[in-house]
Amino acid sequence: MGLGYQFANPILRPVLFIYQLMQWLLDKILSPRPPSSCTQARRPKIAIIGAGITGVSSAAHCIGHGFDVVVFEAGDKDSLGGIWSKVNDTSSLQIHSLMYRFHPSVKWNHGYPERQEILSQVRQLWERYGLDTRTKFNTRIDKIYKDDSGRWVLDDPSNGVFEGVVAAVGTCGEPKMPNMSGIDKFQGAIYHSSQLTGTAAKDKTMLIIGGGASAVEALEFAAKQGCAKTYILARSDKWIIPRNFLVDVLFALNVLGQETLFSWIPEALLRRFFYRDLADLAPCDKGIFTDTPMVNSDVMDKLRSGKAEWVRCDIEDFTGAGIVINKRERGTPSGGHGERRVVEGDMIVMATGYERPKLNFLPDDCFSEPYHPPNWYLQTFPPTHPSISAINCTYLSAIGTVGNWHIGIYTRILLMFLVDPMTRPRPFWMKRWIDMTRVLKVFAPTDALDFFTYLELVWWFTFCVTINPFRWKWALFVFFGLSVALPRKGPGMQDVRKGRDVGKTF
Ligand SMILES: Cc1cc2nc3c(=O)[nH]c(=O)nc-3n(C[C@H](O)[C@H](O)[C@H](O)COP(=O)(O)OP(=O)(O)OC[C@H]3O[C@@H](n4cnc5c(N)ncnc54)[C@H](O)[C@@H]3O)c2cc1C
Ligand SMILES: NC(=O)c1ccc[n+]([C@@H]2O[C@H](COP(=O)([O-])OP(=O)(O)OC[C@H]3O[C@@H](n4cnc5c(N)ncnc54)[C@H](OP(=O)(O)O)[C@@H]3O)[C@@H](O)[C@H]2O)c1
Repeated sequence: MGLGYQFANPILRPVLFIYQLMQWLLDKILSPRPPSSCTQARRPKIAIIGAGITGVSSAAHCIGHGFDVVVFEAGDKDSLGGIWSKVNDTSSLQIHSLMYRFHPSVKWNHGYPERQEILSQVRQLWERYGLDTRTKFNTRIDKIYKDDSGRWVLDDPSNGVFEGVVAAVGTCGEPKMPNMSGIDKFQGAIYHSSQLTGTAAKDKTMLIIGGGASAVEALEFAAKQGCAKTYILARSDKWIIPRNFLVDVLFALNVLGQETLFSWIPEALLRRFFYRDLADLAPCDKGIFTDTPMVNSDVMDKLRSGKAEWVRCDIEDFTGAGIVINKRERGTPSGGHGERRVVEGDMIVMATGYERPKLNFLPDDCFSEPYHPPNWYLQTFPPTHPSISAINCTYLSAIGTVGNWHIGIYTRILLMFLVDPMTRPRPFWMKRWIDMTRVLKVFAPTDALDFFTYLELVWWFTFCVTINPFRWKWALFVFFGLSVALPRKGPGMQDVRKGRDVGKTF
């Protein structure tokens, strides 16, 4: 088609063609222009901590709008892409890639891309925006502090000084391998769920410990490899929702971000039309808007086929050939009465999650009670420092997605705060927003900012811009990233260096 992009045949694959065309248009309209090699970024300089999709996307937005960046990544060059660089080759998106557009120039060729396609999109973005020359690998940041002129130093002044900081360290760090009593008795192989690539599992029985998204992915791996039988040994119940774009968007559209009087309706519909004969697996004591649900449709078919079994249980001990469990009925909490049973298997997969990366490199005053993460302004800005934005690493649970438009919006809110003093909120008002969210969600079963839905996130952004008349001129830039809409003049905006971390307004 001569558009610099390989389009699918519109007759043979019309849906993919339309998807590609839409992405091509979004790129043309919304992607900021990559810097030319001789361009000197003249606006404030931003430090980005982490080179996963959040860090790379955020850095691309900054540099595209003329803000210089340095990306600091703890891992080596192979860590580009963050958690996606460390998981199985068969790992893929659970939600539709339309909800995983982490930068306008991302172009998906599949609804549910696998790891390599995701990594390739991250790498292309990184190269397109010249971030390859601005990334320091093998550089773990342990401490940030201000120099005499109020600019941020990361570990050491030799790393440069910065007006703003984006912490993009993610929520999935090292694989979590809990120390379980008796596990050394097991004679078979034990793997973490992220380390299955190349594992021979054909005709074997796989015992999966854990009942989260990684457990479901391990089950998919087992099915593809031809495992004879798979057991998912889950300590607590989580909701599973279908892998259906429309259904997933509908769930994300709850603007209240919490259980409501009407939550029983989607829950009943899920039990009736999705779980059906497996309704026993649906949580009975946990609403859908309280904990990140798993997104998967195939798991139900696999359970129905008899090749897989989902067992609600506690792990009690291990034998040479299996795991001793306490199988519980629906509604019996972990540790409650159950039936003791041995489940035998050839291999154990620990789908027990990941250690959470620490944010303790940020200044201590970011963590003063009761304004500790995720209880920050828009969940992202510590109220004591509007020049720090911790994107995608403070949230606990959500319905929505980690990698979407909001990375750009959060980044541009930071840029707005850095450039325009009249938009920069005072700590007092940032705290009042957190207090207000607490009041609005006082009846939520979780703490106010422990769970959010995607529409709630959109409401927060809108609130942030509409409440302050000085931010109105920034609206088009913040929401859409239109470079032409980036205001260049305004009271105090020429006062380049001083007080970028000092809020002045509400
Ligand atoms: C198998 C799998 C599938 C997933 N699927 C989905 C999905 O379908 N939809 C969805 O929304 N989410 C999904 N997720 C969640 C996933 O975490 C996010 O989608 C996203 O990849 C997170 O990107 P990130 O850049 O925020 O964090 P990460 O990818 O974790 O990147 C953080 C980076 O920061 C670096 N770092 C950490 N601390 C420091 C430090 N102190 N100094 C310097 N560097 C540091 C790390 O080395 C890492 O490279 C999935 C997660 C997994 C594990
Ligand atoms: N394709 C995808 O979209 C995909 C795939 C994988 C992961 N992810 C994302 O990555 C993140 C991590 O997911 P995850 O599934 O790896 O981890 P997770 O959601 O933290 O789930 C870990 C599971 O292990 C159980 N567990 C932990 N310690 C245990 C112990 N000592 N004994 C028994 N059970 C134990 C937990 O039980 P409790 O709940 O009782 O603690 C839970 O069921 C999530 O955000 C998830 O959405 C996404």
